[in-house]
Formats: sequence, C-alpha cells, structure tokens
Amino acid sequence: MITITPMKDKDIPVVAEIERLSFNFPKPEAIFREDEHKYLVARDGDKIVGYIGVEKVLDETHIINMAVHPDYRGQDIGKRLMQHVLNDEDVFFLEVRVSNEKAKNIYEKYGFRAINMRQSYYADGEDAYVMRRLPGE
Ligand SMILES: CC(C)(COP(=O)(O)OP(=O)(O)OC[C@H]1O[C@@H](n2cnc3c(N)ncnc32)[C@H](O)[C@@H]1OP(=O)(O)O)[C@@H](O)C(=O)NCCC(=O)NCCS
Repeated sequence: MITITPMKDKDIPVVAEIERLSFNFPKPEAIFREDEHKYLVARDGDKIVGYIGVEKVLDETHIINMAVHPDYRGQDIGKRLMQHVLNDEDVFFLEVRVSNEKAKNIYEKYGFRAINMRQSYYADGEDAYVMRRLPGE
C-alpha cells in the first residue's frame, strides 16, 4: 500500500538518490535539507519510492518537482502524489522541460495548462513550459 507523509531528516538520502536517478542535473542533498518542510514522500511499506516538493509563493502554490523511483514508475504513484497536494482553493503553478512529455501528460490530466515558456530555464539551456492550474480545473 502506498502512503504519503511529510519528508523526515532520515528520508533525505533516499530522496536524493531518487533525484539522482531521475534528473540529469539533480539537486544536491543540501537543498533537500534546507527545504525539508516542503517535501512529501511516497512509501511502499517502508521503502521510499517517490517524492513531491511544494511551496507557497505569494498567493500561488508552486510544485517544485516530483519524481518516482525508476523501478516504481507507471504504477500511479506520480498521480497519487499529485492528488495529495492539489486542492480546489489554490492556484498552482510549475515549470516542466518542454521535452518531458510524460510529466506534461500528468500535469494536463490534473488540469494544468501551459501559459508561458521560459527560454533556457534549465542549466543545459532547455526551455521550460510554465503550467498553471486554476481552482476547479
Ligand atoms: C514523471 C513521473 C514522476 C511520473 O511518475 P509515475 O509514477 O511513473 O506516473 P503514473 O504511473 O502516476 O502515471 C501518471 C501519468 O503519467 C503519464 N505517463 C506515465 N508513463 C508514461 C509514459 N511512459 N509515457 C507517456 N506518459 C506517461 C500518463 O499520463 C499517466 O497517466 P495514465 O496512467 O492515466 O495514462 C516519473 O516518470 C518520474 O519520476 N520521471 C523523472 C522525473 C521527472 O520527470 N519529474 C517530473 C518533472 S518535475
């Protein structure tokens, strides 16, 4: 059974490992330590299999990032993480690589729409879509 709970100190090395397995330019462990309170982890029993980071920026909620361990992808864990953080009161936004069709698909499924593009947003020069979800979408 998958459970979703706030990230604790002791979860950070595993979360950082999933980050390294998921991104070409992974955030260092120190960033997860600084932002510990912004992250939630998904567990399958005792094992951490994914995480999502969320922060409130002015009157909008920003989804910082999300990843699922490669061995656990395609089992609805990404969707579970999204369902856990979304609500129908707040405006949400996020950035996603223009090449990341998979992530874009999930976000669209949950009512996010691309509203803008940020040129060379990522360290390797790739552009990002800015996606927004309005309450009730
Ligand atoms: C993006 C990611 C978090 C999805 O997690 P997941 O647990 O595999 O996703 P789910 O099983 O919940 O699938 C959710 C949706 O993603 C999309 N999706 C999943 N696998 C896909 C694939 N192989 N191709 C295209 N779309 C796919 C579908 O829309 C799917 O919904 P559906 O099953 O109703 O069709 C995971 O692939 C990942 O960690 N990727 C690397 C990191 C990343 O890109 N993070 C997001 C950017 S911040």
